[in-house]
Amino acid sequence: MPAESFFNSARPIPLWLLAELTYACPLQCPYCSNPTDFYRSRKHELNTAQWIDVLQQARKLGAVQLGLSGGEPLLRQDLPEILAAAKSLGYFCNLITSAVGLTTEKLDQFKRLGLDHIQISFQGSDRETNHRFGGTDSFDHKLAMTRSVIERQIALGLNFVLHRHNLHQVPDFLRLAASLGAQFVELANTQYYGWALQNRQQLLPTREQLQKAEEQTNDFRKQHPAMDVFFVAPDYYETRPKKCCNGWATTFMTVAPDGDVLPCQSARVIPGLAIPNVKQASLQSIWHDSAAFNQFRGTQWMQEPCKSCPEKEADLGGCRCQAFLLTGDVHAADPVCELSPQHHLITDFLVQATEKESLSTLASSRPHSDAVDKIVWRNS
Ligand code: FES
Repeated sequence: MPAESFFNSARPIPLWLLAELTYACPLQCPYCSNPTDFYRSRKHELNTAQWIDVLQQARKLGAVQLGLSGGEPLLRQDLPEILAAAKSLGYFCNLITSAVGLTTEKLDQFKRLGLDHIQISFQGSDRETNHRFGGTDSFDHKLAMTRSVIERQIALGLNFVLHRHNLHQVPDFLRLAASLGAQFVELANTQYYGWALQNRQQLLPTREQLQKAEEQTNDFRKQHPAMDVFFVAPDYYETRPKKCCNGWATTFMTVAPDGDVLPCQSARVIPGLAIPNVKQASLQSIWHDSAAFNQFRGTQWMQEPCKSCPEKEADLGGCRCQAFLLTGDVHAADPVCELSPQHHLITDFLVQATEKESLSTLASSRPHSDAVDKIVWRNS
């Protein structure tokens, strides 16, 4: 079946399973999308057998892509066992990691087990920025592990999460990625959920910063046509909302460390949404029949202006979590949309976040201490 047919299928299939193995993490990134009260889940992480059961059930539902994520998935001692089970089930397996805790021995083991892809995240293009925003002195280790992944011919993607204090480093980071031999780079502007929402005043870049970084990215693409470079813009600067997760419960399924099953990583912020858990129900019943997965499927749930909007099928009303977090109404149009009556919540915030003292921080190539001092750091 062509990919387009899968996505438009009347009976949705959870093609992409994100297994958040743990919320524990040695980093303290202030833009982490994990829930800010994640410590609650840490006491109730699924065990190895439960994770393998999740993988089996999801595969039966049609899942083919597996993201092994966190927190830091390398902190799970049973990661090789989980990876082996996933490969025996036929998943395409992607390890999403900071590389903190990664060793050449582990890489050799993952290669033997058939790991298909590794995504390594960087917090800055130099040692100091990386340390400052990740909270660990890990830059040299990340470089060494990136080289080791390439030597072992495991497919590699580098991920650089962008915000006001490192956006100017885009050219440096791209040059670094090219010198390392990376073939795929994702420049992902921070999206404002979890810790990032708490810190959005300190992290949101200006429009000028963004435009410059995009131009620099385009210049780099022309000079390095063999490298795939994705630039993910922050939706606060868009005029139409993103089709979040390709549409609620159409394609993606996230299983949180404690077994909660989510249509998107942030769904637990929505009040009254009865979040199902793999310890109480099968993935099949959760995906097809649970109230949480059906609540915002399709367009039936919409109210005006989305209900009569000619573009409603294109964006499915945007992001439900963002709509709730910014407006308090989970059925509202995503305020990122300029057709939303609450679009001013975005435009007012843009003005407020990028004026006065904030702008003064942009002249420096280093994070301005006043702005950084106000950041709420993710704790481990
Ligand atoms: Fe939940 Fe967008 S993050 S719907």
